Amino acid sequence: MEIVKHLWQFFQERFKDTGREKGAFSAPGRVNLIGEHTDYNDGFVLPMAIEKEITMVGQLRDDQLLKVYSLDYDSELKFSLDNLTFDQENIWVNYLKGVADELEKMGYHLTGANLAFTGNVPQGSGLSSSAALEVVTAFTLANLNNLEIEPVEMALLCQRAENNFVGVNCGIMDQYISRLGRKDHALMIDCRTKEYELIPFKNKDFRVVICNSKVERGLVDSEYNQRREECNQAAKFFAERLDRRVEALRDVTIEELEEFGTELPDTVYRRARHVITENNRVLTSIAALKNNDFATFGRLMIESHKSLRDDYEVSCRELDLLVDLALNQEGVLGARMTGAGFGGCTVNLVRKNNVDHFMDAISSGYEQETGIRPEIYVSSPADGAKMLNKE
Ligand code: GLA
Repeated sequence: MEIVKHLWQFFQERFKDTGREKGAFSAPGRVNLIGEHTDYNDGFVLPMAIEKEITMVGQLRDDQLLKVYSLDYDSELKFSLDNLTFDQENIWVNYLKGVADELEKMGYHLTGANLAFTGNVPQGSGLSSSAALEVVTAFTLANLNNLEIEPVEMALLCQRAENNFVGVNCGIMDQYISRLGRKDHALMIDCRTKEYELIPFKNKDFRVVICNSKVERGLVDSEYNQRREECNQAAKFFAERLDRRVEALRDVTIEELEEFGTELPDTVYRRARHVITENNRVLTSIAALKNNDFATFGRLMIESHKSLRDDYEVSCRELDLLVDLALNQEGVLGARMTGAGFGGCTVNLVRKNNVDHFMDAISSGYEQETGIRPEIYVSSPADGAKMLNKE
C-alpha cells in the first residue's frame, strides 16, 4: 500500500483533479514453472504469478487524451486516443497505446485519462514485465471506463496489443497468468481451448527461487520467431503425413514423431521432440502436484531444462551454469531456465531450510565464473491483476 500512496502523491503533484472516477490497480509478472515454448503450439503451460508487480493509478479526464507518467523512467507522455501511432523513441508507451488500440478495435468507447505507474518486475529478464504493463493498463482503463471484460478476453486483448502494436509475436501465457493468477496456486492453461485450472502450489517445505542471470541476448526475438517457424513446419509435415487433422504440434504423439519424424530435417525433428515431450511433462507435473509429489515435479523441471538446452536450443552458457550450480546444492529438487531463453532467469524448487545457503552458493559460484552478480528472488504464487482502490 505504501507504493500506492507514493504514486498518488506524484499523481496529485502532476495532474489536476478532474472530479471523475479514479482508482489504483496492479498486475504481476510471472515465472513459468514448466511448459516452455508450448503456448504457441496449442499446448499446455504451468506458470505462477510472482510477488513483483506494476501498480498504476489513474483518473478519467473530460477529453480524449491519455497523459501517462512513468515513475521509473521519470517521463511523461501524452497522446490522443483518436490517433494511436507507434512511438519509436519511448518504447514503453507502446504497451499502453497497444492496449487502448485493441480496446477501441473491440468497439469500446474510451474516455481520456491521467495515469501514473511504477513497478518492480525486473525488465528484460524473462519475468514478463511487458505483460504486466499491458494487463495493468487494460485493467485500469476497463475499470475507469466501467467496461465489463471477462478475464480471458482481457488476456487475449493484451496479447493482441503485443502482437499487433508492439510487434512481438508472443503466445498467450504471460498475459493470461498476469490477469488470472491466484495466490498459492499455479495456473495450468490449455492454450488451445483457453481453458484453465488452478493447481494448488503451496508447500510449507519448499520455496520457488528465481535466479536472474542478468544477461539478455539481442537474439531473443529473431530466434523466437525462427522456433515458431520450425514448429509450424513440423506441424505442417504431420498434417500431410498423418491420416487425421493436425493443426499444431499439440496433436502429434511421441510415437508418431518417432515413426515419421526422421523424414524431417534434424533440427526441426528436435524442435518437435521438445514441444511434444514438454507437453507431456506438463501433464505429468500436474498429476504429480495433485499428489503432493514435489520430487517428481522437480525431476520433470530438470528434464525440461535439458530438452530446452539440447533439442530446442534456447538456453545459453549463463543459464546452464545457474542450473548446474543449483543441481549441485543440497535440497534442490528441480532447476530449469524459464521464459523465452537466451538469458533471463532460472526457476528452482528448493527445500525451505536450504534456501539461504542456496542463495549464497549460487551468487558466489555464478559471480566467480561470469563476473556478474546474479539477482535472486524468493516468491510465493501471487494473485493476478487486482483493484487496490477506486473512488
Ligand atoms: C515468452 C512468450 C510466451 C512463451 C514463452 C516461452 O515469454 O511471451 O508466450 O512463448 O516465451 O515459453
